[in-house]
Amino acid sequence: MNLLDEYILSHIDRQGELLEELTRDANVNLLRPRMIAGHLQGRILKMLCRILHPRRIVEIGTYTGYATLCMAEGLDSDAIIHTIEIDEEMEDFMMKYITRSPYKDRIKVHFGDAMDVIPSLGETLDMVFIDADKRLYADYYDLVFPYLRAGGVIVADNTLWDGKVAAIPQPKDKQTSGILRFNDKIKEDARIEKVILPLRDGLTIIWKK
Ligand SMILES: C[S@@+](CC[C@H](N)C(=O)[O-])C[C@H]1O[C@@H](n2cnc3c(N)ncnc32)[C@H](O)[C@@H]1O
Repeated sequence: MNLLDEYILSHIDRQGELLEELTRDANVNLLRPRMIAGHLQGRILKMLCRILHPRRIVEIGTYTGYATLCMAEGLDSDAIIHTIEIDEEMEDFMMKYITRSPYKDRIKVHFGDAMDVIPSLGETLDMVFIDADKRLYADYYDLVFPYLRAGGVIVADNTLWDGKVAAIPQPKDKQTSGILRFNDKIKEDARIEKVILPLRDGLTIIWKK
């Protein structure tokens, strides 16, 4: 971590003991702990919830539940976050922390493919956090769009993909191609307003007109 990152983290809200413990546990016991949103992005997701007051959120890609717990913290007490994870092997890890959260009643965990789970929720959504298979971002976007109310927000993580989106020549790997397809799609979509925050690995915020 560079000095500026350290400075930022020492001048924003703390993530709290539960999330610190989760992060240590993930770093020791999981293969890809870098997939966790982390301190800064977690506080941003919480802050977005504080500002927007979404009543129904969907998160695509739970992994450890780190971002889920952050968003749940920022929700109004009667709001719900549906978080969807395809890998059932993550259940023990995430539930160890979700069950200890004072905000656990706001969290509903679903195991399965988001493409199947989202239509079965029967919810109109105020906010969606896309953070799963990079090859399928455009598909997730098309899937959730009809369920998102006008004025609702989609947040998509990793949309700069380690800078590879701007590499010349553009890398041909499927994950980068998936992110490029998503970024190009939303660039052309007149139904939305969008910005890319150059934060961490790129965070796109989309507002449905
Ligand atoms: C980057 S991690 C999520 C990190 C988490 N949102 C956070 O910020 O702490 C991506 C997760 O998406 C899951 N995933 C991949 N494809 C999926 C799908 N089609 N439906 C649901 N989950 C999926 C993966 O198993 C993985 O655990």
